[in-house]
Amino acid sequence: VSATGRTPADVLVDGETIAAVLAPGSTLLGFDLAAHVDRVIDATGKYVIPGGVDAHTHMELPFGGTAASDTFETGTRAAAWGGTTTIVDFAVQRAGERVMDGLAAWHDKAAGQCAVDYAFHQIVGGVDDDSLKAMEGLVAEGVTSYKLFMAYPGVFYADDAQIVRAMQKAADLGLLTMMHAENGPAIDVLAAQLVEQGKADPYFHGIARAWQLEEEATHRAIMLADLTNAPLYVVHVSAKQAVQQLAWARDNGKNVFGETCPQYLYLSLEEQLGAPGFEGAKWVCSTPLRSRAEGHQDHMWQALRTNDLQMVSTDHCPFCMKGQKELGLADFRAIPNGIGSVEHRMDLMYQGVVTGQITLERWVELTSTTPARMFGLYGRKGVIAPGADADVVVYDPAGHTSIGVGEGRTHHMHMDHSAWEGFEVDGHVDVVLSRGTVVVDDAGYHGRAGHGRYLRRDLSQYLV
Ligand code: URP
Ligand code: ZN
Ligand code: ZN
Repeated sequence: VSATGRTPADVLVDGETIAAVLAPGSTLLGFDLAAHVDRVIDATGKYVIPGGVDAHTHMELPFGGTAASDTFETGTRAAAWGGTTTIVDFAVQRAGERVMDGLAAWHDKAAGQCAVDYAFHQIVGGVDDDSLKAMEGLVAEGVTSYKLFMAYPGVFYADDAQIVRAMQKAADLGLLTMMHAENGPAIDVLAAQLVEQGKADPYFHGIARAWQLEEEATHRAIMLADLTNAPLYVVHVSAKQAVQQLAWARDNGKNVFGETCPQYLYLSLEEQLGAPGFEGAKWVCSTPLRSRAEGHQDHMWQALRTNDLQMVSTDHCPFCMKGQKELGLADFRAIPNGIGSVEHRMDLMYQGVVTGQITLERWVELTSTTPARMFGLYGRKGVIAPGADADVVVYDPAGHTSIGVGEGRTHHMHMDHSAWEGFEVDGHVDVVLSRGTVVVDDAGYHGRAGHGRYLRRDLSQYLV
């Protein structure tokens, strides 16, 4: 199955790459292939797809006095289990730090640790003369996209002046600007008022981060990008009004893109309100979960069909309850933001095929092919074709996946809970190859830390 169609075929892997895609039972120069290869993986009745590309993860992200609980080792192992064979993680520069030091620190964390291939975006968390200059070196490092934050004043935040300067630089260099589009200063006012009123439970995180502030920031980002001729990619879109801004911009010829995440398709603010005690903390992420009554989730699915949103990443940013989420027991503002899903994206999105929300081809496009094209990896990743890396998943539509950590369930992410506890999904990741090596099959996990290589990325194939 590719982004454009499906056909019965045999896939011939030679070493780390795909050698041929052949009609079933083909002979090659008179040789019976099955008799001459080292290993045959029987995928009869199953889907063979390019490995998932998760273009938004945060292994070991420092946040709120703690750090995301998956290391590159545990996080990429979990990714492999779930059929994701490439991650693009965010290297971090904060105000006062040097961009290239941030990138070097991320290489140190990841090198020799990853089970699957990995690449980096650069967070530019302090836009100043030094960091603008440093951005000139990113493309040569294979880092062709960077992220700005309109949220989190005092942490990663960029004001409009900084955004304009960074976008001008990015437009010159061909870097894709990724935007966390929420009006942080306004959110902080609302959050402080809520806490003062005694509304300090996890649910109020979502109330403070009102959809109006996502819509407003999305619009502002679009217009600043238009002004500076910078292509724009809005991350973790959750409000239908933000999607409407993106749709309007695209209809008017602006080069803007958006991703959503599984949590914004399946989970809601109402469920968070209904969660007992502090349980709702497991769903504290930014942008927040939105109201189902307001129809945001349905609108995200619709936007994935109409291409108003182009792809699905996880924003994998796991924190344990114990010692991490619990930092915000008395005040939701101190709950580290993030949900862990790197292991579940392929299954959760396949569920959209099962329920008729998206086609089989669109599933592959949203989870593998478009992420590869968007972030300059296509050809190596995102496709099963001669010359491509042999990142291949055999997916069993007749299989079943029970997600969670309780009662015999075991995920592989380093988390003491699951945001997806109890999810039952039709479909199952059967076999996973990373550059020709079987890393997961019926017998279990065969991967190893250090198999995964750093990927220098080309410019986005969506630049014009
Ligand atoms: O809640 C989230 N999304 N945490 C990770 C940081 C970010 O803004 O992507
Ligand atoms: Zn963000
Ligand atoms: Zn993120």
